[in-house]
Formats: sequence, C-alpha cells, structure tokens
Amino acid sequence: MASNYTDVFRDPTAVEKYAERTYAPGTFSSIVSSRQAGWLRGFVPNAFATRPVHHDFACGTGRVSRMLAGMVAVSHGYDTSEAMLQKSRELGTPGHGHLVQPGLASPHVEPGRPALVTAFRFVLNVDLHLRDQLMDFASAALPDADAGLLLVENHGNASSLRHLRKTFGRLDASTWFQELSHLEMRDLFTRHGFELVGMQGFTLFTQGCYRAPWGWASKAADAALASPLSKWATDVVYIARRR
Ligand SMILES: C[S@@+](CC[C@H](N)C(=O)[O-])C[C@H]1O[C@@H](n2cnc3c(N)ncnc32)[C@H](O)[C@@H]1O
Repeated sequence: MASNYTDVFRDPTAVEKYAERTYAPGTFSSIVSSRQAGWLRGFVPNAFATRPVHHDFACGTGRVSRMLAGMVAVSHGYDTSEAMLQKSRELGTPGHGHLVQPGLASPHVEPGRPALVTAFRFVLNVDLHLRDQLMDFASAALPDADAGLLLVENHGNASSLRHLRKTFGRLDASTWFQELSHLEMRDLFTRHGFELVGMQGFTLFTQGCYRAPWGWASKAADAALASPLSKWATDVVYIARRR
C-alpha cells in the first residue's frame, strides 16, 4: 500500500501513465471499463425513477462521469489532484470537477433529487483512514435509505483468480498488490451505516490472462461468465444503500 497515495496522483507523470497507458484502447483496464459502462448505463435508469445527481468521489480523469453521460441530471467529481482534474477536462468529461483537500470533500446536494455516489478504483490501494473519508462523504450525500445508492469498485477481490498471483507469482516492490475481501467491504459499509444490496463482477481473469496467447478465450469467457459468477470476479462493483 502506498503511504503517500494521495501525493502519487498529484504527479503529472503518474496522471499521464494512468490516462494514456493504463487506459489505452485495448488494454485490460479499458476493456473492463467498457463492460462497466455498459452495465452502469443499464443499471441507473432501472434503479432510479428520476435521473440522480451523480457524485464521483476520487473522480480522477472523470472515467465514471463519462460512462454516465446523459444518464444523470449532473455529475460532480471530487479529487485531491489538480493534474487528474486537468486531464478530466482535456478528456471532455461532463459536469463539474472539484479540487478538494483530503477528508474535506463535501457533496453538492440537490434537494428533491436522488443521489448516486460512485468511488471507482479507490478503496483497494488506500488505508482505512482514506476508506473512512470516502464513507463519510457517501454518508453526507446519502443521509437515509431513500436518498439513493452508493457504488464502490474493488479491483482486487481476494476471492478471485487474482489471489493466485499472491500465492505463486512474483510480487516486486515497484507494483502495488493489495487484496480486499467481500467481508472487509461489508464491514466498511456496516461501520458507516450502509448495507450491501448487491454486487456485480466485470472480469474473472487478470491482466496477464488477457495478454496470453489464449487472451481471446479469457475475454470471451469473461463476457459470458463474469456477471453470473460475480462473487469470484477479480473486479467487482458493490451496490450499497443507507440502512
Ligand atoms: C486510481 S485513481 C482512480 C480514478 C477514478 N476514480 C477512476 O476510476 O478512474 C485514484 C484517485 O484518487 C484520488 N485521491 C487520492 N487520495 C484522495 C483523497 N484523500 N480524497 C479524494 N481523492 C483522492 C487521486 O487523486 C486519484 O485521482
């Protein structure tokens, strides 16, 4: 776990790498991202009778707001990195980006409209203190069970094929390798007065499987099986609601 997680993403080099390499067209991350977009665009109109106000915690380059373009009343992204927000503007992200101090993000609530809070690719590599910052933010945006929904991505589910890398693989110090279990996520939600109401998986396989000569088979299997086998997916989005 990076002790300086927040600082890492303030560095324009890390931002370029995230936007141009991690999410380059055809990469594992961008394939997973487009599956998430397809699912989100079906999920939101089903879950909300009126278009919600979207609050994207740790929005980074605005990936989630772009996925939700046209499906929400307005998107607000909150991030501690001006470099990330600048990249988000360059990528034409709809809505508003807000530069915030760690722990001080406060949602722009619109009375009378439901809220959708998202936090993608954040909880896995941060410590409990930062996870609590996210949950405090979500609690402010979602004061009661009828206020809307919280969606949190865990891109390192401990009960997935990815775990084999920890058991058999080489983990060098230059790459982060964390795992997060469903139980840890459930505990986080419970501690902050939320209940888990569902989970959706987006890939059973890992990045390496997509590069292998049989990468095409991993992609095809994921497209068919990641959803029904969500519990064992390496990348999962949890759906939670205030109790
Ligand atoms: C891996 S990026 C994920 C970006 C985006 N959510 C996505 O899925 O593409 C993590 C983001 O968390 C932001 N971040 C780090 N510490 C934060 C904090 N304490 N509060 C809000 N955002 C933070 C970083 O600046 C970075 O943009």
